Amino acid sequence: MKGIRLSLFGFGNVGKATAEVLLEKEAFFRERYGLKFRVVSIADTSGVVWLPEGIDLKEALMVKETFGKLSAWTNDYEVYSFTPEEAVKEIDAEVVIDVTNDRNAHEWHLAALKDGKAVVTSNKPPLAFHYSELMEEAERRNLPYLFEATVMAGTPIITLLRDGLKGDTVERIEAVLNATTTFILSQMERGLEFEEALRKAQGLGIAERDPGGDVLGIDAGYKATILHCLAFGPITFDEAEVRGIVEVTPGEMERAKGKGKTVRLIARVENGKVTVEPREVPLNSPLAVESHENAAMIRTDLLGELVIRGAGAGLKETASGVVSDVIKAALGLRRN
Ligand code: HSE
Repeated sequence: MKGIRLSLFGFGNVGKATAEVLLEKEAFFRERYGLKFRVVSIADTSGVVWLPEGIDLKEALMVKETFGKLSAWTNDYEVYSFTPEEAVKEIDAEVVIDVTNDRNAHEWHLAALKDGKAVVTSNKPPLAFHYSELMEEAERRNLPYLFEATVMAGTPIITLLRDGLKGDTVERIEAVLNATTTFILSQMERGLEFEEALRKAQGLGIAERDPGGDVLGIDAGYKATILHCLAFGPITFDEAEVRGIVEVTPGEMERAKGKGKTVRLIARVENGKVTVEPREVPLNSPLAVESHENAAMIRTDLLGELVIRGAGAGLKETASGVVSDVIKAALGLRRN
């Protein structure tokens, strides 16, 4: 078994978690799907390590852990300074995995597809701004372009909307799609001011050091835009109306509590319209999630109301979505 050749872009927390899952579950993937993977390149911001015979993932993880960057790894491996666009063309891989947060990654996703490579991504902006272009290119080339981990981590809402409900017309989706804001709001329920709750989230490593994308609603807006593309057709993030949680006060939380409600950052997706804003939700609503969970209520003409709820953030949880897509891509390529 030669192995499906993978090219991994991004070796931060999600990249490392993806490598760990590929390593730890190697036997499971072989037994369950008859698949073997060979990671031929890994890129972080310090450079690209490329070894056509396959990189020793255990060693790569150790180097990253010890030195914080791949370019420190010069003993057995050559480190290249390719741009991602050069790397996707140069490196002979079947599946390109993007776990970066490169805002312009659509350019090298397109380059990969044009070069005959499948793409798996957890990176949201390419989809939130260039959905049609990417999907059209993937269809033209008959290549998998998969993005489960962009919304709700590994909780399979993308698969649900992409592969299920074929005969249904989706009428509306209401969802909590950002875990950081849920944590902050649930702390504010306990009386903390926004700033204090944010500091606590940062202290626990829940919020990023630069949490702007989360608290301003941009992360949820990207995700809601992606859901719109699947449920109703292409739209871009520029058309979304987004308001974050920075103006929510403990007083508002208190008032909601008095009515048996709480406040969550709610994404509402309807045909031609995406809005993200803090809204009151009843405490017994599926949207009154806690901690790192996300939830979505999908209403369709035939099925009525469907609820999908599960992890929406976390490293292994996001790697779950990435690896699931890698397996789908590999199975798809093998069939072709
Ligand atoms: N920052 C995101 C969140 C996780 O808090 O939900 C990745 O999508």
